[in-house]
Amino acid sequence: MTEPHSDVDLFLQQSTFGDDPFASFIESAKAGGLPEIQVSPVFGRALEILVRLCHASLVVEVGTLGGYSAAWMARAMGPEGKVITLEIDEHHADVAAENLRTAGLGDKVEIRVGPAVDSLAAMESDPSIAGKVDLAFIDADKSNNPRYVGFAVDLVRPGGVIIVDNVVRRGQVIEESSDDPNILGSRGALELLGSFPQLTATALQTVGVKGWDGFALALVRETE
Ligand code: SAH
Ligand code: DHB
Ligand code: MG
Repeated sequence: MTEPHSDVDLFLQQSTFGDDPFASFIESAKAGGLPEIQVSPVFGRALEILVRLCHASLVVEVGTLGGYSAAWMARAMGPEGKVITLEIDEHHADVAAENLRTAGLGDKVEIRVGPAVDSLAAMESDPSIAGKVDLAFIDADKSNNPRYVGFAVDLVRPGGVIIVDNVVRRGQVIEESSDDPNILGSRGALELLGSFPQLTATALQTVGVKGWDGFALALVRETE
């Protein structure tokens, strides 16, 4: 039996933008043995809108998987636009590269393979990247989310946006006694987002094809 919120997700998708332009990514990721944990189509569409809203030409993604969310963001960018996406797993990176190439988005997405903390540290000392990122989407190993948020605050320009996926986890985020590193990571990331004076931050719960979860959304303010 499909959950009613899955049916509603599909209805909302069909009503607002129709078929998933990147459905083939999910098929080939499945065939390649990748876990089916990519963002939902309606969330992909929301990422596209956010990228368009901040006129992004440089996006950083932490956690590539099969390239599904990267594709949604890359399609929102002009010919000069670039998504730099970070992935630790070489097989995931290979599947993503092939998916993106097939979709004609290969030139707009650069996959950097390795632990994201290392890649982010390198970006922080690259003057062509630090402070110039328009949008950061954090969606990898949740235990490192506080570190990823710290890097994102250094990398994203004033007026840019930071998004952190999976911060609710069927409500587990409020379990104060949890020793699950994923929950601790999400709690730490939320607390950190709330602690930076230059951020206007919030988090929204979601239900849909992926069940009950949520994401944090923060704006790096241009002014006080
Ligand atoms: N953003 C993708 C889903 C990412 S799933 C989408 O919506 O389409 C999380 C990904 O993060 C997995 O591919 C996993 O291999 C990767 N990952 C896990 N730990 C990581 C780390 N330390 N550094 C970089 N990537 C990591
Ligand atoms: C998991 C990771 C995700 O990024 C997600 O959106 C859903 C689930 C996971 O690791 O289980
Ligand atoms: Mg996720």
